[in-house]
Amino acid sequence: MAKLIVRGGTPLKGEVRISGAKNSALPIVVAACLAEGESVLENIPRDIDVYTISMILKKLGANIWFDDDSRLHVVPDNLTKEKAPYDLVRRMRASFYVAGLLLARLGKAEVPLPGGCALGSRPVDYHLKGFKALGADVSIEHGYVRAQAQELVGAKIYINRSSVGTTMNLMLAAALAKGTTLLENAAKEPEVVDLAIFMNSMGARIRGAGTDVIRIEGVESLKGTEYSIIADRIEAGTFMVVCGITGGDMMLTNVVPEHLRSTILKCQEAGLEIEEGPNAIRVRALRRPQAVDLETAPYPGFATDMQQPFVAMMAVAQGTSVIRETIFDRFRYVDELRRMGADIRVERDTAIIRGVEELTGAPVVATDLRAGAALVIAALQAKGETEIRGVELIDRGYEHIDEKLRRLGADITRISDDEESRHMESLMSTFSELG
Ligand code: UD1
Repeated sequence: MAKLIVRGGTPLKGEVRISGAKNSALPIVVAACLAEGESVLENIPRDIDVYTISMILKKLGANIWFDDDSRLHVVPDNLTKEKAPYDLVRRMRASFYVAGLLLARLGKAEVPLPGGCALGSRPVDYHLKGFKALGADVSIEHGYVRAQAQELVGAKIYINRSSVGTTMNLMLAAALAKGTTLLENAAKEPEVVDLAIFMNSMGARIRGAGTDVIRIEGVESLKGTEYSIIADRIEAGTFMVVCGITGGDMMLTNVVPEHLRSTILKCQEAGLEIEEGPNAIRVRALRRPQAVDLETAPYPGFATDMQQPFVAMMAVAQGTSVIRETIFDRFRYVDELRRMGADIRVERDTAIIRGVEELTGAPVVATDLRAGAALVIAALQAKGETEIRGVELIDRGYEHIDEKLRRLGADITRISDDEESRHMESLMSTFSELG
């Protein structure tokens, strides 16, 4: 497997530019395929998940490429195939957005069930219930979701539990439907708002994004547009925690501080000094982090994606922290932190973390994307060398994480020599060949 070798103990200092939000980029690249004509997207992160979704769309017939200025061009005019490839879809749950797209664009979709993942069972039942409410016939055959509709018709849909993926998939499906769709108990995440603004700039009529009721008036057609997506609040939060654990001093640029409110408050509670500018945040860690209690919640609550990075910082905090995870089954990685000397006990959905003064380097394995980030964070504080395997998972959501950390002074090296890396390389080269 590809590895990161980290020698900890250096306070990280300097400026880091935060990339565009992966969780905006994925649905927005898909939404661009609802239109007629070309869309040009800026601030799209070059991470593995973005390449994967683009590859799926290319296999369905779209034309997608990065230009020399890192803008992503999406030309969907030849997107005519309704069957999404299993090999790519299974790699990423967000691939299921193509179901909403295909249903709206072609009136039929055949998309593999995304299946389970390292975060426990992650069903798509809310998505399917929504498609049915819009008038689609939905069945599951041989591992594929098959959905079909002569015509999608707007409906009132209550989403059982605030779900980001369901909200976005139904926005995609309802954009070209006949009549008005009301999504109740919709997710309020900034990425949902970003998707709505983008779709409206293509001619959609979506109101209320950012509240728990979203109203979508179906339109006849959408037109390609130009758009720059929001900054990645999880990457920004990750660097704040890196700063906290290493005793650093960082300027994070290209951020939206409002989207980071809960992370900023919890980092301040942990003792970090934070100054906000319009598009930048200065973070300084002048003392050892203090223990903080928190629980994850849908936005504007503390993001589940920040739970693992934050736990890594709490592993060396002064005092005992109690952290409750309410969204996913997301504590399997603590065994790896324990290998580095962390004192963490998990009781059902809650981790009780007794801060130790120092972690120690060890060979560890990333079990999922944010767990991998947590191990990198811990390694940056640990005494001696940490070898982190499973780096491909980290690359799913962080653009050049090792390069960015090196520029801040970290001692971190990437060693790529495995089959999975070769798969990623071949994915990249096929991406280029497909034009
Ligand atoms: C998205 C984010 C992910 C983040 C999560 C919660 C993307 C690509 N991923 O994931 O990084 O951690 O939001 O903020 O944007 N659920 C069901 N049935 C469904 C759909 C969801 O039971 O049909 C449950 C899930 O298991 C989970 C909860 O609802 O417990 C919320 O999940 P959801 O918001 O849909 O997460 P994702 O969109 O998959």
